[in-house]
Amino acid sequence: MAPKIINVDPAAFDQADLQPAVDKILAGELVAFPTETVYGLGANALDGDAVRHIYQVKGRPPGNPLIVHVSSIEQAKSVTSEWPEVAQQMAEQFWPGPLTMVLPKADSVPDIVTAGLDTVAVRFPAHPIARALIEMAGTPLAAPSANRYTGISPTTAQHVIRSLGDQLDMVIDGGPTDVGLESTVVSLVGPPHVLRPGMVDLDDLSEVAAVEPHNDRLYVEDEAAASPGMARKHYAPSARVVITSPSMRQVLNTKLVGILRLAGGPPILDAFVIDMPSDPDGYARQLYDALHRCDEQGCEYIVIEPPPKNTRWDAIWNRIRRAASSEESSE
Ligand code: TXA
Ligand code: MG
Repeated sequence: MAPKIINVDPAAFDQADLQPAVDKILAGELVAFPTETVYGLGANALDGDAVRHIYQVKGRPPGNPLIVHVSSIEQAKSVTSEWPEVAQQMAEQFWPGPLTMVLPKADSVPDIVTAGLDTVAVRFPAHPIARALIEMAGTPLAAPSANRYTGISPTTAQHVIRSLGDQLDMVIDGGPTDVGLESTVVSLVGPPHVLRPGMVDLDDLSEVAAVEPHNDRLYVEDEAAASPGMARKHYAPSARVVITSPSMRQVLNTKLVGILRLAGGPPILDAFVIDMPSDPDGYARQLYDALHRCDEQGCEYIVIEPPPKNTRWDAIWNRIRRAASSEESSE
């Protein structure tokens, strides 16, 4: 059955617009909703049975913990058992926003949310619809990205519906998301370290505390222990992805190639060319939509022109490398 779609303008909405979604959440059901990063598939984080549905709908293995979304620092404290000074400082600097912190978990959080870990990932999103939904429900929301396991995360409600459509009851359509990549995940258990790079980058984090950079290899090889969601095959479109110059189109012996081009230029024969923004924020905002569009066009290959290599582009490199490495999946 097709899901009920609620259209909500993030810049102008009434609480009444969200009431049906709040009712669903409080009845132990799932609602897909926009955040500033990607769309999430939300359930009451304190209701273990509701959270179990999330894993079923996504086809996600139970060993992958979820992020708990809150609408205040107070609420974040209620789902954690320790709130170190560094967490307070990070929260003051980056919340509400695209930063997730991993901290020791409170007993009130069901084990299914954290996949049995004694830590919990917590985030206070900036998106007005996400914030209002959490506030009105009066409970934190467990929510992974609203896509089938290992697929590309959704940055529009249409992406959500295409990926999970007939399995969902309700989708809040708040238009395209702003950041476009999943939040930065930082562990504050032990010395602070990045588990998943995001658009809050290492330079931003370093303004608050010394934070160890993300170690790509560690989380690919030791997947279960550290940050299970970082398995390689994550973020992969159906097409094969290569990171190389658009001129390599000529050696790809295939009909239709998608090209994410940076420098612009003339049309390319038998190619579906998408000219990408040259600034990292704009690029991140459009990356997943570009990959989704290549898949919809039926591209067999996607050529991604290599972007600049500096800290502002770290999260983008992380996602495109993963998209390009589908074969050596560790799952
Ligand atoms: O931007 C985002 O973070 C989006 C929106 C919806 O908020 N959510 C998202 O969730 O990307 P998901 O489930 O696709 O990714 C959650 C990430 C995974 O990499 C997971 O391993 C990590 O957070 N994570 C969750 N709990 C953890 C924990 N206790 N320890 C370490 N990593 C954890
Ligand atoms: Mg995900």
